[in-house]
Amino acid sequence: MSHSAPPKRVALVSGGIGGLGTEICRQLARAGRRVIALDLASREERVAAFHAETADFDDDIAFEPADVSDFDSCQQLIARIEQQHGNVDILVNAAGITRDASLRKMTPQQWHELMQVNLDGVFNMCRNAIEGMTERGFGRIVNISSVNGQTGQFGQTNYCAAKAGVHGFSMALARETARKGVTVNTVSPGYCDTPMVAAVSADIRAQIVAGIPVGRLGSPADIARAVVFLSADDAGYITGANLPVNGGYFMSF
Ligand SMILES: NC(=O)c1ccc[n+]([C@@H]2O[C@H](COP(=O)([O-])OP(=O)(O)OC[C@H]3O[C@@H](n4cnc5c(N)ncnc54)[C@H](O)[C@@H]3O)[C@@H](O)[C@H]2O)c1
Repeated sequence: MSHSAPPKRVALVSGGIGGLGTEICRQLARAGRRVIALDLASREERVAAFHAETADFDDDIAFEPADVSDFDSCQQLIARIEQQHGNVDILVNAAGITRDASLRKMTPQQWHELMQVNLDGVFNMCRNAIEGMTERGFGRIVNISSVNGQTGQFGQTNYCAAKAGVHGFSMALARETARKGVTVNTVSPGYCDTPMVAAVSADIRAQIVAGIPVGRLGSPADIARAVVFLSADDAGYITGANLPVNGGYFMSF
């Protein structure tokens, strides 16, 4: 008697060609998911590099251009992906930007641009994926927040507000969908070794590392591991949770 393998679950990863997103895509593919990285088409060089870095995965990692800040295009994109690739069972929202300035210098544009990506982007993606998940009775949503959303950070009122907001959003959606087989959680990375943190000056980076009990920056693999864990088929009893992955930098319960 031969058993044909069940179709692979489709996982969307917004910000999928970024420092964390790329490794999240790889680890999800290794975990048996069919992954579609969503990111800005305007980042042509990075898109090309992403294709090269994920070439070994053949059809298990694809790229689709997307701007998560645009509701209508997210709606069209998810509808098209569901036709072409199958139902979206896993959604990882990792797209994010910074627009740092102390509040007394922050412009409304810096505030709004950040909210449109980091918070509206989560709404735009979840809003368009949630109905299919609840109808089918299965879904895993993992939203990438940040330790700075838990502690606050100088020069980041916009970023911290959005990241704390992402967790509030996740807890509320977790309640709305808990009976439908859909879990919604956040992962809050600490400081990771990615271009976002490489942009910080060397002496500030040394100060940051000195404050991390584990004694190093996080790696993209450290974060991806948490995403794979929360998006597993058998992770159905974990919902509305925040999983900090910060090397002990901020401990709480
Ligand atoms: N790197 C860290 O130390 C760290 C720490 C805590 C939280 N985070 C969060 O993790 C997530 C990933 O960060 P990263 O370090 O990989 O940064 P990154 O800049 O490498 O990746 C972010 C990705 O989001 C994409 N993006 C930006 N605007 C978009 C839009 N409108 N539509 C679609 N994609 C868009 C970018 O093109 C980029 O590829 C972000 O949400 C970030 O806030 C990162």
